[in-house]
Amino acid sequence: MQEYIEELRNRLHQHNYNYYVLHAPTISDKEFDDLLEELRQLELQYPQWYDENSPTQRVGSDIDVHFVQEPHMYPMLSLANSYSKEDIIDFDTRVRKTLGIDTVVYTCELKYDGVAVSLYYKDGKLVRALTRGDGVKGDNITTNIRTIKTIPAVLHGDFPQEIEIRGEVLMPRTKFNEFNLQREKQGEQVFANPRNAAAGSLKLQNSSLVAKRPLEAYMYYIPANQPSDSHFENLQIARSWGFAVPTVAKKCENLNEVFDYIDLWNTKRKELQYDIDGIVIKVDSIQLQQQLGYTAKIPRWAIAYKFKAEQARTRLLSVTFQVGRTGAVTPVANLEPVKLAGTIVKRATLHNSDQIQQLDLHTDDYVFIEKGGEIIPKIVSVDVQTRHLFAQKIQFITHCPECGTELIRLQGESAYYCPNQYNCSPQIRGRIEHFVSRKAMDIGLAEATIEQLFTQGLIHDAGDLYSLTYEQLIQLDRFAEKSVRNLLQSIEQSKQVPYYRVLYALGIRYVGETVAKTLAKAIPSIEMLQAASIMQLEQIPEIGTKIAESIKQHFREPYSLNIIEKLKQAGVQLSTVDTEHKQVNNVLQGASVIVSGVFQSYSRDEMKELIEQYGGRNVTSISKQTSCMIAGDGVGPSKLQKAQELGIPILTEDEFLVKIGLKSV
Ligand code: IVH
Repeated sequence: MQEYIEELRNRLHQHNYNYYVLHAPTISDKEFDDLLEELRQLELQYPQWYDENSPTQRVGSDIDVHFVQEPHMYPMLSLANSYSKEDIIDFDTRVRKTLGIDTVVYTCELKYDGVAVSLYYKDGKLVRALTRGDGVKGDNITTNIRTIKTIPAVLHGDFPQEIEIRGEVLMPRTKFNEFNLQREKQGEQVFANPRNAAAGSLKLQNSSLVAKRPLEAYMYYIPANQPSDSHFENLQIARSWGFAVPTVAKKCENLNEVFDYIDLWNTKRKELQYDIDGIVIKVDSIQLQQQLGYTAKIPRWAIAYKFKAEQARTRLLSVTFQVGRTGAVTPVANLEPVKLAGTIVKRATLHNSDQIQQLDLHTDDYVFIEKGGEIIPKIVSVDVQTRHLFAQKIQFITHCPECGTELIRLQGESAYYCPNQYNCSPQIRGRIEHFVSRKAMDIGLAEATIEQLFTQGLIHDAGDLYSLTYEQLIQLDRFAEKSVRNLLQSIEQSKQVPYYRVLYALGIRYVGETVAKTLAKAIPSIEMLQAASIMQLEQIPEIGTKIAESIKQHFREPYSLNIIEKLKQAGVQLSTVDTEHKQVNNVLQGASVIVSGVFQSYSRDEMKELIEQYGGRNVTSISKQTSCMIAGDGVGPSKLQKAQELGIPILTEDEFLVKIGLKSV
């Protein structure tokens, strides 16, 4: 049976390779799913033949992991940037001068705009994946990486016994748009661009969620033990091992060919499924690369050419003013719709009144827009030549467009505020939206529903959410029984949200997530926080006068006190209770523990959870830093051997349970 399971796994690995790398599947999706299901069933029946690289493991695990930092075998460096052909001519001159030769062959590749990862394979199996981190050490994100289908779990063909390979994880543009749309519908925060979405996904601590994100990965570099002296060849060889390597890399014999490649992809990049932000030019010969070497931060044998951000020209239709949850007023430019970098743009941010001044924006102006890192593009300049003779200067408003209150400008800030905090509708709704958001109380409530609840007078502030009834909710538009039950359940669950997140949810000005955590740690209940003096608050590390005063101010407002009272009545966590940390005791404090094999009394995931509950950390690969190994039945022989070689204590399941006090000797 073990052999059959292995064979099934190999067949599925091959089909994955045909589909994701060669783009040439030989069986239908249905046939693939059936084979996968057969394997899943067999693995359930025969847990002793568990394999973390099995094709079934792509779905990830439900257990939260905390990433452990591990050193890179070879530092993960950055690239020098260039923005003009002159920069590249200089680079080529430097390279040839250092090497003392007349011509150099380069390989040109796309510069993928994603998140860098370094993958390490031993005996053809993926054993470790690290993020760049600080370049010297990165987060071990192996469990998340295993869910990405274009990354082979097991290599093909003639691969070396040990190999490290680097590449970029991305989210294709169309998948990103669908994904963001779905998030918007569910009232979740959208990502500004595919790169942020990919980075956010890889940071998720639950790999079964990562498995649902449409991520892909392309490889571009083997840092050591290269199979060939040509980088271009190495890319082709990496493809033959099962990695996704785009076929568009090109060997260029001279600078003119390099420039042609840049020009070609500057135009053709719109046709790609994913974002690129430039071209990478690498000396092709590995031997020459070694002669050129590295500075502390970058290789001397490669350079990135960054594309200029795409611009579009369009007409300004009007400027409207939006009031946010803090009362800050943001001007938004409404534009004649225009296509920019693959999407139709109708609006641009103007940030604040200073920017309107700086741009000297007039009615009907033609403007140039550009996409930065944010969702909404920005106006970069005005086409003054085409300005209308009678065009009027755009004036910043003096009164709130929502409630008519005169706007104020706080000292030292560039934004204008509507000071009518407790009666200005977008400010109230904005605070409720913040309260329910994922990192705060995590209540599944869309913006549109909040608006309905608010305009129907069912809620006046976040505290009212806890007295909503089934009868009230079932009357809402598009609210069937199931949505009502889900919402009520979500509200109920939010009563378990730890105190620091409640503190963040309150929306005290300057109290973001990190400050809320610091405060909750230093002052464990809301009553104590209310009673704390400015001086006491200022003694907490990272808390300065501005934050301390803002906290005091918040607790002076009857409006805020009223909300806190409602939360108290509802049973929301307003203090730090010890059980919150689920930590039973700290016998494993600071220990990094690896589990391997199958256990009698607990599943492997339960074992991992126990380790965390008792203060330890789970690691997935063995190093000198590993504190101990818990070995079950069918423990991986290479892991066992490595643990023995490094002299790492090996515990049986029973020995471990005795150690943490769950079993008596
Ligand atoms: S080579 C030692 N090739 O861009 C040189 N990097 O801005 C290793 N990147 O750190 C990098 N596409 O994360 C290389 N085709 C490509 C790339 C690429 C994207 C990323 C990579 C790098 C960053 C530098």
